Amino acid sequence: MSGHDIDRIIRERVESRRFRIKDIDQLKTVDDVFNQYTIDALRELMNRRVIDEVYGPVAQGKEAKVIWARAPDGIDIALKIFYTSTAQFIRGRYKYLLGDPRFTGVKISNTRKLIEYWCRKEFSNLSDAYNAGVRVPKPITFNRNILVMEFISYKGVSGVPAPLIKDEPPEDPESAYLTIIKYVERAFILGRIIHADLSEFNIVNTGDELVIIDWGSAVKANHPNAIEFLLRDVENVNRYFSKELHVEVFDSKALLNALLRRYESGGQVMSDEDGWLLIGGKRIIDEAATQ
Ligand SMILES: Nc1ncnc2c1ncn2[C@@H]1O[C@H](COP(=O)(O)OP(=O)(O)O)[C@@H](O)[C@H]1O
Ligand SMILES: [Mg+2]
Repeated sequence: MSGHDIDRIIRERVESRRFRIKDIDQLKTVDDVFNQYTIDALRELMNRRVIDEVYGPVAQGKEAKVIWARAPDGIDIALKIFYTSTAQFIRGRYKYLLGDPRFTGVKISNTRKLIEYWCRKEFSNLSDAYNAGVRVPKPITFNRNILVMEFISYKGVSGVPAPLIKDEPPEDPESAYLTIIKYVERAFILGRIIHADLSEFNIVNTGDELVIIDWGSAVKANHPNAIEFLLRDVENVNRYFSKELHVEVFDSKALLNALLRRYESGGQVMSDEDGWLLIGGKRIIDEAATQ
């Protein structure tokens, strides 16, 4: 297919599916995630000039749907819209939110408030990772149950989401593996955050880079189970890259120990031209290799 054909197809798709502020109420007929509460939240984001047009769902999960939309400047954006009425969602997340020190003192009187906090938490986690220099969808804003972020597209094709690495493995598995280790360390040491649900199900491949998505379950480094989560993330990454892609990975415990030692070192943290953190002049991969 030529670039011209792709452009035409996208244009047609956009024309047939776009919802602007005047017809936003019609979204109710398109997908059940658009209930009145969510439509009101969308309208507010449109009035705030965050969103210009809403197209439609590109992916759905247990807790949320991801919608393709466009900002007034013409840039594609992703809306992660959390379901507001899933009993499962409430049961699964309530305890977790209450255990999070950033949200103590918050009185959760109803399910919508709970989901708003969940959405806000994902935004805050995403921001921590983004500010630490991890490649994640750039956080834009949130409102009620809607998280607004950069749309991660496949090979730059508008409205086509980048596939998960489990479906589209990286071309150069060795360097992809190292990149993920680099990101885990940047998140932990600079962002003081642990993804806690890291695996080939939450890493996408744009065709020329890997992006870590879905920061909803992330915990701060001072969380009581932080080390356990960090080890699990490292083990998942090691398992995927060694079993599926035959990369010679570092030992999980050696990586965990290096991460913890470097976190606690208290020394000056620098970054080299490839984005590796230098602590005591060393990269984590130099340290983990000598264990
Ligand atoms: N910023 C984004 N840009 C494009 N697609 C995305 C984006 N965020 C998520 N997706 C797509 O939506 C799916 C679900 O998102 P995710 O954040 O992993 O939610 P869940 O909690 O349902 O796993 C992802 O697997 C991915 O295909
Ligand atoms: Mg996910």
